Amino acid sequence: MTANPPDRLTTLRDLSRAMLDGYDETTLRRQPHPALSPLLWHVGHVFFVENYWLAEQVFGDTRVTDPWRTLYFPELCAKGERSARLPGPAEMVAWTRELDAVNDTYWQRAQQQTHDLLADGYLRAFIRQHYAQHIETMRMARAQLALGETPPALTDVISPRPSVADRITLPAGTVVMGTTDIVAYDNERPTVERSFEPFDIARRPVDNGQWLGFINDDGYHDSRWWDAAGWAWRTRHAITHPQHWQPTRDGHGWHLARADDAPVETTDSPVHGIGWHEARAYARWAGARLPTEVEWEAAARSGRLEHVGQVWEWCDNAFAPYPGFQAFPYDEYSMPWFDGKHFVARGASRATEADIRRPGFRNFYPPTHRHVFAGLRLAWST
Ligand code: AVJ
Ligand code: FE
Repeated sequence: MTANPPDRLTTLRDLSRAMLDGYDETTLRRQPHPALSPLLWHVGHVFFVENYWLAEQVFGDTRVTDPWRTLYFPELCAKGERSARLPGPAEMVAWTRELDAVNDTYWQRAQQQTHDLLADGYLRAFIRQHYAQHIETMRMARAQLALGETPPALTDVISPRPSVADRITLPAGTVVMGTTDIVAYDNERPTVERSFEPFDIARRPVDNGQWLGFINDDGYHDSRWWDAAGWAWRTRHAITHPQHWQPTRDGHGWHLARADDAPVETTDSPVHGIGWHEARAYARWAGARLPTEVEWEAAARSGRLEHVGQVWEWCDNAFAPYPGFQAFPYDEYSMPWFDGKHFVARGASRATEADIRRPGFRNFYPPTHRHVFAGLRLAWST
């Protein structure tokens, strides 16, 4: 007899705990980037959230959640105040193991329980996706920590490549966006049919060698390619290259700094470490533009795009609800971010777990975030 493989939730819990490996307590308590919480907070948060929805919301048991809610609900504890309140790594891991046992008992009991959140396996899928999203964020955090190491590990020198892209042509048409699948997030529902004008879209995302062409053409210093907000941001922060690029010793070329657990990047790998402003400037320089998420989803559903899922792909539009949107299971997952200040990224990155890989999945970040494993794919109106 062979042992059963561990179920997916068990794997995701173990992956979450493993995000603490290899760093000392001081590092685990630190914010690796101003936009990121300490690794210890993420681990506490994902286990807390599983217990909150299952034990507290479904079964009314607040014994685990009561002492921790003001730390692990993000809206009750500012990012900068999390560090000092966190337990140490050994205590954290022991606590997550206790929660595994508590939660497993409730998942068993849930099989005999009727509750809106449990219908069609919704809650377990929601919890899996929540782990998956924070695992990716913890990979971002680990990449930021690796970048801060001196000296960071470097790739070979990147060589420039022409920005000419192999294009796919889509005639004018319509696409049904979103899904009726119960496991999807609220912002993917309800489905909506959207029409689009004819357009071309690149078969592959922009790669490192192509991005180097923009740098070598002084694209970062040429205001023609930037809109006013992007140029102001670029200038204020002296942005001159993707976040993890490092000049060669002679100052004439570029390496990429790499995180230990990240796959090795080459000239041909999709570029990331760029914000939405930079993505738009590159596209303009290349005589193209970013696709809207309507176009992106139409192209993705046509099955003809290549290398989807290596880097998130910035889209041109702000994150907004589909008509008929209803927040579920709580207001804060999507609603606060329909503010015109968050832009959509589609697809997935190499750091994304399978649980959230689907053509309708919508990610969203401020235009200045460069630590999120996002790149771009070019589009053209035809
Ligand atoms: C959709 C990735 C922006 O990490 O803030 C996790 C996902 N929401 N817990 C985030 C999320 C609540 C969210 N992003
Ligand atoms: Fe969360």
